[in-house]
Parts: sequence; structure tokens; C-alpha cells
Amino acid sequence: IPIGRCVVAVDGPSGSGKSTVSRRLATSLGARYLDTGAMYRAITWAVLRSGVDLNDAHAVAKVAGEVDLRIGTDPEGYAVTADGVNVETDIRGADVTAAVSAVAAVPAVRALLVARQRDMIDKAGRIVVEGRDIGSVVAPDADLKVYLTASAAARAARRSAENAADVAATAADLARRDQLDSTRKADPLAQAADAVVLDSTELGIDEVVARLRELLTERGVA
Ligand code: DC
Repeated sequence: IPIGRCVVAVDGPSGSGKSTVSRRLATSLGARYLDTGAMYRAITWAVLRSGVDLNDAHAVAKVAGEVDLRIGTDPEGYAVTADGVNVETDIRGADVTAAVSAVAAVPAVRALLVARQRDMIDKAGRIVVEGRDIGSVVAPDADLKVYLTASAAARAARRSAENAADVAATAADLARRDQLDSTRKADPLAQAADAVVLDSTELGIDEVVARLRELLTERGVA
């Protein structure tokens, strides 16, 4: 079977089910998977470790430019390292989660990561990429753009179950991050004009994945 180029962009707010949907879709397509949020988190980990002031955009960008960030693209398990340190656990922790929106708002950090992401997409050819600005900025020519949403309550319930955290605190944290991520000046969370909008509040993960497979088949790309 000839396996052609197929780039799927999955954007949406935290807790919309993006990661699970994107990984499953990638596995079912025999494609690679790129978690761009993990890249912003790994840079944030390096910024926190360096001790520079989070509000000093120049210093934050300098750390971002110097860190040796590596991320795998296997949907079944990908390593993330920063300067040779495995940061897979730390980047999901409370410290990084609290600081990541500030770091992701720095234009020079975004320019750096967007360039890396485009490079990885070109090399992979077949890849599902998840984030906030994939359809709008990173891969405007993607074969399929998906904007995945879910009600605030459903998103908070999912995230708190994942992290064994309190639902109310999780809801407040999601609301804070969504606000920061959608109102920042540089490449805010955005629904691309040509994105397919799916709401995972009612649809199960499997149904969302099945719908995306259908759309790709209709478009003749997978
Ligand atoms: O998807 P996530 O929660 O791991 O993302 C972590 C943070 O990174 C999130 O608060 C917004 C930011 N982010 C971004 O600005 N652009 C992306 N393409 C992906 C994530």
C-alpha cells in the first residue's frame, strides 16, 4: 500500500481530549505524533531550572534558545529530554503547569518552536500534531484541521481524574490557562477558518477518532 503524506492538525483547549484522540488517530493511521504542548512544557522546565525571571521575556527566550530539547514522535510512547535529562514526569507537574502559559506567550519562544515543529512535520510526512496554533500557524496547509472542544465541566472532570486532583481546583486552573492561552498576542489558541469543529462532551473518544478517519477517507488522504 503506498503510504502518502498526511498531516492532521488537532487544536483545542486543555482537557478537550486532544492528546488521547491524537495519539489514537496516529496509531490507527500508522503515522507519527507530535505533542507540541510537551515542547512548551520542556522549555518551561528549563526556564524554571535556570532561575530566570518568568516575566523577563528576553531571558526566557535566551534559555529557550540554549536548551537541547528532544522529543520523540511515536504515538505509543515518546521520550522528552532537556539537556539530556528525561523530563517526562516533571513537565506534567504543578510547577511547570503553572508557568507554561507565561513561557508560551513569549514570541521568540514560539518562533523557535514553530520552526522546529514545521521541520519535524516535513520530515515525518504522515503525522498527527496537537496544540493550540497548529491549524492556524504551524501547519496551515494540513490535510485535515480539527478543533476539539468540550464543556468546561467535562474538561475539568477529565483532567482531575487524570491527575487525581480536586475538580474545583482543576476547573479554576483550566479556566486560568485557557484565558491566558486565548488572549495572548502571539499565536493565541485559535480555531482555523477551515477547521472541523468536534465537541467531545457528548461524543466518546472512539467516536471522535472514527469521525476523523471518515473525514480523511472522504478527502482521499488516508
Ligand atoms: O496541551 P498542554 O496542556 O500540554 O499545553 C501546555 C501549554 O502550552 C498550554 O498552556 C498552552 C501552550 N501551548 C501553546 O501555546 N501552543 C501549542 N501549540 C501547544 C501548547
